[in-house]
Formats: sequence, C-alpha cells, structure tokens
Amino acid sequence: MCGIVAYIGQQQASPIIIKGLKRLEYRGYDSTGISLYDGTELHTIKTTGKVSDLEAKFQGHDPIQATIGIGHTRWATHGVPNDVNAHPQTSNSGDLVVVHNGIIENYASLKEELIQRGYTFSSDTDTEVLVNLIEDVQRKEKVKLGKAVQIALTQVVGAYAIVVFDNKKPNELVAARLGSPLAIGVGEGEFFVASDATPFIEYTKNVIYLEEEHLAIIRCDRDISIRKITSDKVIKPYIEELQMSLENIQKGGYDHFMLKEIFEQPQAIRDTLRGRLLSNEGVITLSSLREHENKFLKARRILIVACGTSWHAGLVAEYLLEKFTRIPVEVEYASEFRYRDPIIFSDDIIIAISQSGETADTLAAINIAKERGAFVFGVCNVVGSSISRLTDAGCYTHAGPEIGVASTKAFTTQITVLSLLALRLGMVKGTLSRSEYQQHLVELESIPDKVSEILKQERLIKEVASSFKDANNCIYLGRGYNFPVALEGALKLKEISYIHAEGYPAAEMKHGPIALIDEQMPVVVIATKKGHYDKVVSNISEIKSRKGRIIAIVSEGDVRVKELADYCIEIPESLECFTPILTTIPLQLLSYYIAVQRGCNVDQPRNLAKSVTVE
Ligand code: G6P
Repeated sequence: MCGIVAYIGQQQASPIIIKGLKRLEYRGYDSTGISLYDGTELHTIKTTGKVSDLEAKFQGHDPIQATIGIGHTRWATHGVPNDVNAHPQTSNSGDLVVVHNGIIENYASLKEELIQRGYTFSSDTDTEVLVNLIEDVQRKEKVKLGKAVQIALTQVVGAYAIVVFDNKKPNELVAARLGSPLAIGVGEGEFFVASDATPFIEYTKNVIYLEEEHLAIIRCDRDISIRKITSDKVIKPYIEELQMSLENIQKGGYDHFMLKEIFEQPQAIRDTLRGRLLSNEGVITLSSLREHENKFLKARRILIVACGTSWHAGLVAEYLLEKFTRIPVEVEYASEFRYRDPIIFSDDIIIAISQSGETADTLAAINIAKERGAFVFGVCNVVGSSISRLTDAGCYTHAGPEIGVASTKAFTTQITVLSLLALRLGMVKGTLSRSEYQQHLVELESIPDKVSEILKQERLIKEVASSFKDANNCIYLGRGYNFPVALEGALKLKEISYIHAEGYPAAEMKHGPIALIDEQMPVVVIATKKGHYDKVVSNISEIKSRKGRIIAIVSEGDVRVKELADYCIEIPESLECFTPILTTIPLQLLSYYIAVQRGCNVDQPRNLAKSVTVE
C-alpha cells in the first residue's frame, strides 16, 4: 500500500512525480504529497485526497523549478488521512524528508526515546518517527546520509520501502526496502525511484528491482551505489529491460481501467496460454515446471496460499488439481496460515497465488513454508515481484498490468495457468487419460473466443444492472467449480458498489441464507448445464417460491432456468472445469455497471488498495 515516486536528474521533477503518483494511486489514494528542492530551499506540499487534489494545490502555488524531488500517495495505516499525516514527513530540523510505504512496528518505543532526546512530533505517523531517527543518527554519529539511513534501519522492526532526501546534500537520494517493493529507473544522467516501474516507463526501459534489505545511494554525477542494509559490501546492480509499454498502462478509450481489463481478458488468456498450450501437438509445456515435475508427482499434499481474489482462484484450483492429479489440496488464506503454526511436510508443495506478487501475508506464508522445507511454486502476474523472486519456481500469468483495484483479468488468467498445471500433472501422473487430456486441451484453446462471445452481451448486462442498482444486499450461489465464482462475484459487488453481498454454495442456502430471501433480495445463481444442473434448478425454484429476484448465468439454449429466473445471461457451453473462467465474466460486468450506475469510483473504491503490502 502507498505509492512512492522520486526523481533526480536534469528534467523538471514535479510533472514526472505527479504523473507517476497518478499511476500508483491503485496502491492508495487517501492523501498525497510532494517535496521539491529548487536549488536553495525545500518545498513540501501535501493534501488530503487524491493526486488530482495535490495537482490543483500545486498549480495554485508559485512555480517551483526543481530537478530533484520525492512524492507519495497514501493508504493510511498510522494516523487518519489528513494533510499533516500525509507524506513526505519532515525531520525536526526541516532538512530531511522521507516517503515511506510499509509499517514501522516498533515506532512507539522509538518515538518515546526520541521524545526523551528532545524531538517533537506533529503527525501520528510511524514515518515521522523514522525520519527523526535518521536525523538523530546523523547528529550522533556524524555520518553521511546513506550511512545514517543504514544505521537507523537496523533499529527498525517492520516493513518499508523509503526514499530519503537531505536538504544539506541536495544532489542525492537514498532508497531502501524491506518487505515493500522499489524499482529504480536508470536513464541518461537521471534516475527514477518508484513502487513499481509504471511511473518511468516513458523515460527509460532500464530498471533495477531493489532487492530485500538493500539500500541504494543515487546521484546523477555517479553510478548508483547499492549495498546491504546490514553490511557495507557494495553490490553490483542488476539492470533489467522493462517489458511493459505505455499503452499497457493507459485506459485506451475505456471509461475505467476495470472495464478495459474486463475486455482485455480474451487476449490476456491467449497470452497466458501462448507457448504453453500446443493442442495440435497434444502437449502442455510449463518450462518452469520441467525440472520440478517429480516433486509435484511425489507430493503428499498441495497447500495453496493466497488472499482476496487470488484465494478464490486457489479454490477453483483445488477442484482442478484434485480432479486431475488426485493429490489432496488445501486452500488457505495466507493471513491465517502464517499465524496458526501450520503443519507442513517436506514433501508438501505450496502454491502461492498473487497478482501483485507483493501481498505481505502471502509473502510471510511463503517464508514459513520455505523455513519448513516445502517446495514453493508461485503464480504471479507482476514480473520481477517479490513473490516471483522468493518462490522456488513458478508461472507468470502474463495478463499485463492490472490497474483497476478490483481484480478481473488476473483472476481468469490465474485459473488458466492453474488449469494448465493440473492438466499437465494429471497427464504425466496418469490420473487423466490421454483422450480426456486431449479433449481438455482443445477446449481450453477455445476459451478466449468464448470469453469474447460473453463480452458481446455487455448491453444486456448493463440493463440487468439498472434493475438491481438500488439493492442493499445480494446473494450469489454456485456449486462445485462455480462455488468460488459465487464468492468472487459477491466480492466484486462489495468492493466497487458497496452493496453487501454474500457468496454461498447453492445447497447451503437452506442452512441460513434462505431466511433472507424476500421480494427485495436479488439472488445471482450460476446454473450452467455442466455441474449439478438439476440440483441448482431446484435451488432456484426454492428462491422463486419465496419471491426472490433471480439473475441466472445459464448455458446457451437453456430452457428450464429461463422459465424461473427474472433475467438470464447465457454463456457458451464448455467443459465443467473451465466454466469458472466463463461464468465470472458476466459477474464482473454486472458489478461494474451497478457500481457505475450508483456513481461509485470503480477504479479506486473507498478504503481499498490494490497491493496490500501491510498485514
Ligand atoms: C487486494 C486487492 C485484491 C487482491 C488481493 C490479493 O485486496 O484489492 O484485488 O485480490 O489484494 O492481492 P494479490 O496481489 O496477492 O493477488
């Protein structure tokens, strides 16, 4: 959570930083700020609200000519979102400014010590403690900024990505990370530092992903100097080439990123399958699996850890993996797993699923699994992310940047990758017959086109949305492979429209939720032909006889559900195991249009952030 952008070079820093912060608003958007050094003094402008509010405040300010600066967009952890708690935070002398993403867990005791030494605090943030701690080290130890940051960070418990600027040393930025990401863009005589590479994509393709516990001293007149926080050994930076383009991170004519990302799904799924699914040759190849396949085949158990939407993809994977490989699978919220002293055998395999590859709880769960000797396989979207680097092997989803806070294409591509994995393992293990394998390959290849067919029903779904936009509650029901989709559909609606929604296995309805059903209650039911159809039809009759309003996701040509439901959205027929990819699409569009019609901020829903880098 929280986005950081910093610049040092020859260009005007403020437009680069403000534009960069806008791209990072998915990480938090409750308050924001910028500090710029104009050659003589430091200017800090902060405000509650979004980066557009900062921009407006900035425009009302006297022009600031500065080629060095740091900026921040915040998702509050310590201290309410207001101007004072916004970053950058300034030290008591006024010389040091810091932007920070993460949490300093021992901030209270550090603050106490600093107060005893005469420091005062104006904000409620842990970051103000950190900036004064650095200043205190500078004063006591009489060391340069880089060393002072290094010493201060050894006293800190928690997670951080920081960039520090010192008014007395105005040609230098110091950046460091532990548990939160930082990317450094390396240009010609200029450097960019940001929470991900999107803020500098149009300026340079050369990027250094700062490693855990590393600190970088960045000056224009010198090469960047990187060292470990815990030692002075200088580390040669590894410069990678960025694969992303500017087009990837723009709205491309859509009203919202979420809508663009929903419509990108046919291509995103094709990209996920590319080079991996060769249906003519009858093979699935997952290069990262090759040398580890045996571990999977001998696995006692597969444990899946994830959060949010990725956890829902994990639930679909449980059905897929158990069906095709007959290996027992358990799916856990990473946040629960990490604190319950889990039993992990050395022949267990952990699959960690994460769009961002930065989710703090998932990272912590992976660390526990690794400590206990398990093999960890990652399914991530963001290339070079912390999870992709921490895991023993893994597959990227290749969905491209997902910017809308509500996850869409990440989910369907995660299921696609996990389908490939399950099918491949099932075939190698012999738990899936050659002919079934072949049949699944052919069907999987047709899924992107089927997603495109569903997207053509956008107008119908928009109309359905208008009938339900004023609901206060909503129930989502599904069975088997589509039970996780019911959970995901409900999550999408909650996240962006603020309508209370619950997902349930359809048969469980009788054990509670049925009491909620009356003529006001919308019930979304996934009732495709493959997958307990008759039973779901009975569930629909039960809802109808209690006057519930039914929106059904049905297979093309359905007759029985159409007689009962108020609205039906059709999806093309498919094999049962791939229906989650298809049934999810109308639910994404339904949530999107309900939220738009309620006037909600779809891409930046209240209180949420896309990348949850704090626990
Ligand atoms: C946040 C996002 C969700 C996402 C979850 C897990 O809550 O808003 O969309 O599913 O984090 O994120 P990850 O990046 O690990 O998939």
